[in-house]
Amino acid sequence: MIQTTGNNVALAAGWRDRDAHSVASCYSRYSDLVVERAEGSHLYTVDGRDVLDFGSGIGVTNLGHGHPKIVEAVHRQVDALWHTSVTTLHPKLVEAAEALIGIAPPGVDRAFFCNAGAESVEAAMKLARRATGRSEIIAFQGAFHGRTYGAISLTASKAKYRTSMGPFLPGVHHVPYPYCLRECTHAAGEPCPLAAGKALASLFRTYVPAESVAAIIVEPILGEGGYVVPPQNFLPTLRAICDEHGILLVLDEVQSGMGRSGAMFASMHDHVTPDIMCVAKALGNGLPIAATLATHTVMEHWHPGEHGTTYGGNPVACAAAVAVIDVMKSEKIPERAAKLGSSLISTIRSWQAEFAPLAEVRGRGLMIGLEFRDPDGKPRPEVVEKAQKAALAADLLLLTCGIDDNVIRLIPPLTITDTDLATGTRILHDAIAGSI
Ligand SMILES: Cc1ncc(COP(=O)(O)O)c(C=O)c1O
Repeated sequence: MIQTTGNNVALAAGWRDRDAHSVASCYSRYSDLVVERAEGSHLYTVDGRDVLDFGSGIGVTNLGHGHPKIVEAVHRQVDALWHTSVTTLHPKLVEAAEALIGIAPPGVDRAFFCNAGAESVEAAMKLARRATGRSEIIAFQGAFHGRTYGAISLTASKAKYRTSMGPFLPGVHHVPYPYCLRECTHAAGEPCPLAAGKALASLFRTYVPAESVAAIIVEPILGEGGYVVPPQNFLPTLRAICDEHGILLVLDEVQSGMGRSGAMFASMHDHVTPDIMCVAKALGNGLPIAATLATHTVMEHWHPGEHGTTYGGNPVACAAAVAVIDVMKSEKIPERAAKLGSSLISTIRSWQAEFAPLAEVRGRGLMIGLEFRDPDGKPRPEVVEKAQKAALAADLLLLTCGIDDNVIRLIPPLTITDTDLATGTRILHDAIAGSI
C-alpha cells in the first residue's frame, strides 16, 4: 500500500491547485480526495490514502471498480473497433440492445443508445411528444432528471440548479411526490392521497387537460431528492392514470436501475411496466453509456434521422454494457443487493433509539437514505455535513442528498465484501455518534 508522506500530500495539494486554475467552477465535489486508482470498493489517492467508497461514483460502479470481466471485455473491444457512429452498423450495438431488452420490464423491446442520463431523458421527452402528438409533460417535485435544458426543466430537487438559467422548456408541470415524511399529514400506515393520484387529478381538473399530456415521468425511488421509497400503490396508480388518459408512463431508472434496488429495475418490485424507460449510470459500470427504451409501438413513431447522437452506442461502451448485464445475471447481483440492503437497513434502524434526529431510515437494496430531522420536522443538514466529514476523516466516502440536504445516502458497490460493508457501517455509526 502507498504510504502517506509529506511529498505525496504536497502532490495532492498541487493537483487541487491546478484544478482550481483550469477546471470549471461548477463541479460540486463530495470530497477533496485526489484519486489515482481504484479496485473493488476502495479508492486509492495520490497522497497514499485507502478510502472505502460508499458512493460508487454516484451510483455508477455497481460492480465495483475494475471488475475483471468488464475490464477484459473493454480491452478486447478497444483492440477491435472503437467507433463508427451511424456510418455503419456494428455487432456490439445489437448485442447491447438485445441484452438490455432481455433484462428490461416486459413489453419494453426497443433501445436507443446515448451517453448519459440527461440525454436519455431528453430522448424520452422528444419521443413521448412525437408518439402522442401532445405537448404537456408532468414531473414531480423533488425529482432529478439531469441538467440539460429539457432535463433541467423536469428537475425540481433544488432551486439552485435553476438560478438565473431560465426560461425553461414550456409545457412542463410539477406535482408533489408522495414523500410522506416531508409532504404529508396523514398518519403513518394510513393511505397517502398523493400516492393515490390526488395532486394529478387536481392538476387535470384545474390547469392541464389530461388529453393534452404526452407523458408522466417519474423516478420509482426518488434519488437526489432524498432516496424516498414511495407507497406501494403509487406506481400502479400512475400506470392506471396513464392508461385511462392515453398518457405515456416514463420511468427514470437512471439511478435506481441495474440491480441497485435489489431488483434489476426498481419498478419491478411493484410489477409496473413503462412505455418508455431511461437507463444510464451503472449500465457501463463507468464507461459513458445510457439508453432510452420503449415499446416498439411507441418507438416506431420515430423515423430515421428524427433523433440521433454521434457517440451513442459506441462499440467500447456497448461492450462494457454487454459484460455488465452478463455479470449482473450470472453473479445474481440484484439478489445480493437485496440481501445486503435489508440487513443493513435493519442495523441502521436499530440506531434510531440512540440517535434522536435520525428520523427515517429507508430504501431498497443498497439504495439507502438516512434522513435527519427534529421531532418538530426541522431538517438537520448540519448533522449530515458533520457526519460526512467525520466519515471521510476515517477513510469512508459518503454521499448526501435530499431537498433539504439532510439525508445521508448509502450507495456502495453491490459487489462490496462483507468485511468492507461491516467496516463502513462501523465508521458510519461512529461518524453520526460524533455529529449529533
Ligand atoms: C434519476 C436520474 N435521472 C437522470 C440523471 C442525469 O444523469 P446524468 O448525470 O448522467 O446526465 C440522474 C443523475 O444523477 C439521475 O439520478
